Amino acid sequence: MSGGRDVYIVGNWKMNQSLEEIDSFLNQISTLNSNNHAWIAPQALHISKCLEKKPGFLKVGSQNCAHEDSGAFTGELSPKSLKEIGVHFTLIGHSERRSLYGEGDDLLYKKTLKALENNLYVIFCIGETLEEREAGKVEEVLSEQLSNGLRDINSKNVLIAYEPVWAIGTGVTASPEQASDAHKFIRNFIKENMKLDSQTTPILYGGSVKPENIKELLSNEDIDGGLVGGASLKADSYINLHKNA
Ligand code: 13P
Repeated sequence: MSGGRDVYIVGNWKMNQSLEEIDSFLNQISTLNSNNHAWIAPQALHISKCLEKKPGFLKVGSQNCAHEDSGAFTGELSPKSLKEIGVHFTLIGHSERRSLYGEGDDLLYKKTLKALENNLYVIFCIGETLEEREAGKVEEVLSEQLSNGLRDINSKNVLIAYEPVWAIGTGVTASPEQASDAHKFIRNFIKENMKLDSQTTPILYGGSVKPENIKELLSNEDIDGGLVGGASLKADSYINLHKNA
């Protein structure tokens, strides 16, 4: 990382963790002393418990939020209500939401606007599939996801997460060169085409980040942190992500 930007270690717990595991995680990390931002996104029905029991430094987020504050949206999560209970950030456009639940660019744009309107930080996720990479379409996919999903948005509360779909949960991490190329491309694309501030917008990498590879990933000047699935579930691993970052 460079340019004086902060480092973010964000755990995306997906649909995991029992109440007992959460208790144990929060107890064990209470003494973590890190210079990095420590964020976690538990599954929605565990958010309140995490907010109740968390140490002060830890910020809690949602894995998703709706495009409206209230109304007939069965099963959705209101950004206004998330803010009201003390949620700090939300993921938007995770590849699992895009591919399993059919969330497209227009909806993701609306969700982002609403979340920002409610003063939530947004981690906007983008990334190509293996087929798209093999077809040489990485830059095309990333530029479309950025310009459709974040369009005219100009906010200091937006973070971007580059998560190549083929690296998520597979144990295959993008090589330092692949990650570096994508992150450079994203920062430059923002600079030339978007209203976000290309120098200050944090760009995180996600996809099989572990305590063993986080240092090398973060040695890249355009990578400002990790969005971590599996390796964020256990406290000792989450602590080691911070220590090694
Ligand atoms: P893994 O770290 O388990 O590959 O998951 C990455 C991810 O999807 C984080 O949002």
